[in-house]
Amino acid sequence: MAESDKVFSGSIPKFYDTLMVPLIFEAYAADMAELAAASSPGAVLETAAGSGVVTRALAPRLGAGARYVVTDLNQPMLDYAASRQGPDSRIEWRQADALHLPFDDASFDVVCCQFGAMFFPDRSAGYAEARRVLKPGGRFVFNVWDRIEENAFADEVTQAVAAVFPHDPPRFLARTPHGYHDVALIREDLSRAGFADIAIQTREKRSRSPSAREVATAYCQGTPLRNEIEARDASLLQRATDRATEAIASRHGEGPVEGKIQAHVIVAAG
Ligand SMILES: C[S@@+](CC[C@H](N)C(=O)[O-])C[C@H]1O[C@@H](n2cnc3c(N)ncnc32)[C@H](O)[C@@H]1O
Repeated sequence: MAESDKVFSGSIPKFYDTLMVPLIFEAYAADMAELAAASSPGAVLETAAGSGVVTRALAPRLGAGARYVVTDLNQPMLDYAASRQGPDSRIEWRQADALHLPFDDASFDVVCCQFGAMFFPDRSAGYAEARRVLKPGGRFVFNVWDRIEENAFADEVTQAVAAVFPHDPPRFLARTPHGYHDVALIREDLSRAGFADIAIQTREKRSRSPSAREVATAYCQGTPLRNEIEARDASLLQRATDRATEAIASRHGEGPVEGKIQAHVIVAAG
């Protein structure tokens, strides 16, 4: 993983939350909230919470006396999340690296993490840290994207942007968000972290947007793909976005567009 892959700051939080979240994250956040709330947990930790899409879905499902600690590596993402959440005394916002959690052992009933594990430099270490802060019998609920070929818009954007930089194509989407999809490896990493009871489901959903341009802007400007493009030539950000827009429109049409997305949803305990 490149260093810039984990940098969600500058203009990214706003574009991420307004364009990426409705496009691909909201649908999985509803599932994540349902899974996390299923055991009526008294204490929940969310890691890699980003701009708070799961927080907004899960908080209403937790009990009045619950403790909900919401964390992310990048403070600008958390600031954005907090600004979108109404006052809620059950929620504590805290900047934290999922690999070095500032919490005591056995503090939480559930740890949840939506589309964050792909960014962990050492997945087993991140999972072991989640297990350390879980109470006995607690559950670690998380998800990761399936391979890029199963995620239409991400694949098309990656190919279109590659044409703008043919000698050094930006590969953020394939390398990081879609770079950790091997179910056997996920099981192995969880087992190495000490989890014994592991359930993995692959879930397909649809990604919808009012236009190809919104999809292209979301991926090119609301994710660390933007960092990669700007590092090559910041003046080409708009051209890369235009090429991605054309590629999506040519395949999915002018006007509203729709494409397949697919992810693995994992519950680990024991
Ligand atoms: C694709 S976003 C997912 C955000 C959110 N969970 C959602 O569903 O929209 C990945 C998030 O992981 C965070 N992140 C990256 N590395 C991290 C780490 N080591 N510990 C905690 N968060 C991390 C980033 O700041 C970013 O907010």
